[in-house]
Amino acid sequence: MNSVRLGIIGMGNIGKYHADYLSNKKVSRCELVAVCDAVAPLDRYQPLKTFTAGEALIKSGEVDAVIVATPHFQHTTLGIVALDTGVHAMIEKPISSHKADAERLIAASKRNPKVVFGGMFQMRTEPRYQKVQKLIQSGELGQVVRVNWINTDWYRTDAYYASGGWRATWKGEGGGVLLNQCLHNLDTMQWLVGMPKRVRGFCQLGRFHQIEVEDSVTAYLEWANGATGVFVSSTGEAPGTNRFEIVGTRGTLVMENNKLSFTRNDADMIAFSRTAKQGFVKPDVWHVEIPFENATLPHSIIIQNFVNAILDGEPLIVPGAEGMSSVELANVMVYSSLIKETVELPMDGAAWEKKLNELIAESKVVKKVVKVEAADFASSFRR
Ligand SMILES: NC(=O)c1ccc[n+]([C@@H]2O[C@H](COP(=O)([O-])OP(=O)(O)OC[C@H]3O[C@@H](n4cnc5c(N)ncnc54)[C@H](O)[C@@H]3O)[C@@H](O)[C@H]2O)c1
Repeated sequence: MNSVRLGIIGMGNIGKYHADYLSNKKVSRCELVAVCDAVAPLDRYQPLKTFTAGEALIKSGEVDAVIVATPHFQHTTLGIVALDTGVHAMIEKPISSHKADAERLIAASKRNPKVVFGGMFQMRTEPRYQKVQKLIQSGELGQVVRVNWINTDWYRTDAYYASGGWRATWKGEGGGVLLNQCLHNLDTMQWLVGMPKRVRGFCQLGRFHQIEVEDSVTAYLEWANGATGVFVSSTGEAPGTNRFEIVGTRGTLVMENNKLSFTRNDADMIAFSRTAKQGFVKPDVWHVEIPFENATLPHSIIIQNFVNAILDGEPLIVPGAEGMSSVELANVMVYSSLIKETVELPMDGAAWEKKLNELIAESKVVKKVVKVEAADFASSFRR
């Protein structure tokens, strides 16, 4: 094979977006040959093959690989069908609605190790986060002691929530701002500093919108080495803040207002404290503004890498199995909040699945879907 025949399942906001850059040949050695949507009309995509059921597209023999861009719960079911059929799968974020489902999806991938399984976490292609990772991995930042991410610039209006029957419901989505909007940030945080050992979440359900899931979150996190963190998110706060601060023993990194700065201690702060002869001195600092470009078409970088992985065995930027960590963080923050307890990680995926099924069973939400005015969808993930 020297070109990958690609299909997209779910032709809503992001499915259309993937189709546009693929049709404009932004990814080499692959061709979009089929699209599928259970509801949306697909006439505009002809002469591509069109399907109304994802399973039918996967099993048609027309595609080597699929992008699954449906609402969250179908990521697991369609992902498993694809992997078991031998069709390479790029799963949109979150890879599943909850941890137990993510484990089922990952088990399917382990059954079929030759089939490529990727996760659409395009934030990892952004040079600013790659530079932060380099500073951490090279030891420049020292040992991480504190991580704070105020991540409240995910403002959404009521019209957004009304635009899809699945949105912001336990049954359709499995969660709110954590699982949908700031899942990319949860993924990036754990990619940079690893998974915490324990989490205490404080989530407000329907604080800013008439929805049953969380739209306002403050979570306290602790890592095995004693590092602490606070993660804050909301879809109701305008203008909202996006401030990511990582403190290491060798300095402080701050990403805010599209700037990345590093205030570097010229001595490790703990070693300095042990040896200093005076009480009120601090290590000298150097302040650096770290330049970066924004990635051009980050989603297409992930898909190009997916195609290269299929054709040449190139390592994936985001192996699908790594998508479980962000699902687990999203789940544990809500779970901890509902049971009003700190939860140790790895969390019990079955316990959260049971709780989620209770929330689904108790739900009284009847959604009336209202068509929204056309908007610049790409602006929703440019950050
Ligand atoms: N990576 C990113 O930047 C990014 C951005 C937006 C959305 N997403 C993710 O993509 C997914 C879709 O989000 P969206 O905003 O495009 O939603 P959407 O509601 O606009 O689109 C979903 C589409 O899937 C179709 N669909 C539902 N069930 C289906 C099924 N079983 N088979 C085939 N089609 C089905 C619906 O009819 C709809 O057209 C979500 O998981 C979301 O989190 C990722």
